[in-house]
Amino acid sequence: MAFTFFFRDRDTLDLVCELILPKLRGKRYINIWDAGCADGRETYTIAIMLRERMGSFGFRNVRIYATDIDESGDFGDVINKGIYPKDAIKRVDKRIFEKYFLPVSEDLCRVKEEIRKRVRYQRHNLLTYEPIREGFSLIICKNVLLHFKVEERVEVIKMFHKSLADPGFLVMEQTQKLPDEVSDLFTPITRKGQLFQKL
Ligand SMILES: C[S@@+](CC[C@H](N)C(=O)[O-])C[C@H]1O[C@@H](n2cnc3c(N)ncnc32)[C@H](O)[C@@H]1O
Repeated sequence: MAFTFFFRDRDTLDLVCELILPKLRGKRYINIWDAGCADGRETYTIAIMLRERMGSFGFRNVRIYATDIDESGDFGDVINKGIYPKDAIKRVDKRIFEKYFLPVSEDLCRVKEEIRKRVRYQRHNLLTYEPIREGFSLIICKNVLLHFKVEERVEVIKMFHKSLADPGFLVMEQTQKLPDEVSDLFTPITRKGQLFQKL
């Protein structure tokens, strides 16, 4: 269930940079919740893409709260260390790899501190329907809700709505449609992906 990889759903994350980031310009802090982050490959992908788009100065105002139910109990350690097998980075463009990763051994590499510093991990079960905090500018929850029953999905999305600031945005994977029960809480911001603004 924790299948994940670096730069997964790249098109969706490109849309985040193109359509959502400009709407957050001028905010003192951009708090992001990566809900169901697995072992952090998604979280670090988001961080790297934002750093690329925002530059080092703007990126200092980003905080990404990464959470997962983490049945293995390992994710916190992996994310805090930011160490991954080099094989896992194969899909990453060479320029990005050299800019944001450091070799640790023949087989391992580590996400650089500038990126790691912006990420905090916490174990969290979305089905408690309790947010980890409020005031998020952006919640990214990809390839997670499909594992839930429709009524659970609806309650989780209501919780996301409550924990978003104004403006606040919710992003899901391409195939995860917004259930009708919560369609009055959000408005789509593009037809190219599942990106929504809180109403
Ligand atoms: C298929 S992975 C997706 C990981 C990442 N979001 C991605 O798209 O690559 C699904 C993740 O959801 C997490 N998950 C499943 N049920 C959860 C729950 N109730 N609360 C929080 N995370 C959950 C799993 O532990 C797993 O890491």
